[in-house]
Amino acid sequence: MLRVGVLVSGGGTNLQAILDAVKSGKITNAEVVYVMSNNADAYALKRAEKAGVEAECMSPKQFPDRAAFNTAMTRRLIEKKLDLIVLAGFLVTIPPEMIQAFRGRIINIHPSLIPSFCGKGYYGLKVHEKALERGVKVTGATVHVVDEDLDHGPILLQKAVEVLPGDTPEILQRRVMEQAEWILLPAAIDGIANGRFGQN
Ligand code: GAR
Repeated sequence: MLRVGVLVSGGGTNLQAILDAVKSGKITNAEVVYVMSNNADAYALKRAEKAGVEAECMSPKQFPDRAAFNTAMTRRLIEKKLDLIVLAGFLVTIPPEMIQAFRGRIINIHPSLIPSFCGKGYYGLKVHEKALERGVKVTGATVHVVDEDLDHGPILLQKAVEVLPGDTPEILQRRVMEQAEWILLPAAIDGIANGRFGQN
């Protein structure tokens, strides 16, 4: 059974999709054993509690500097004996020491078709604002393995989503979540848990 930890910063709809997929059997051979948020007010923490999953806040504000936070976060994740770490809207830069400790075992969901609309400054609603500004007709979401470069590691799954006339960033974000993110992220976890991505 794959021990999965999910890292979150906000509403946690992707976390909810994972929890629901485990419950319904869409994800097999994996269990969510730990949820961490850098934001104490994240609704995602409530979702974890409701599902009976251990959840806690670990914020850079609780530490003297970023290096101390990075070391403490990495130690905590090692302590939890996680086989897979899922970044589900986790808006914190992943430190190299964490990537080294979990090489190839951290995945991220990004709300665009990488390599479009990704990298520094592209997160959450901003991604959809930029996609609308550029006038693309198709966007989507990507699940990829995390490496040292932002939004860069090997791509596991992608799904395209149409941009429609009259879309606002909020409307587009919701469509990308419903049609891509909430499907792709559980599918990626199930694929990893059942050995469908080879070395990844
Ligand atoms: C999701 O759209 C996720 O793809 C995005 O943040 C949102 C979190 O929503 N992540 C990024 O932009 C990472 N670069 P959620 O808390 O409801 O799952």
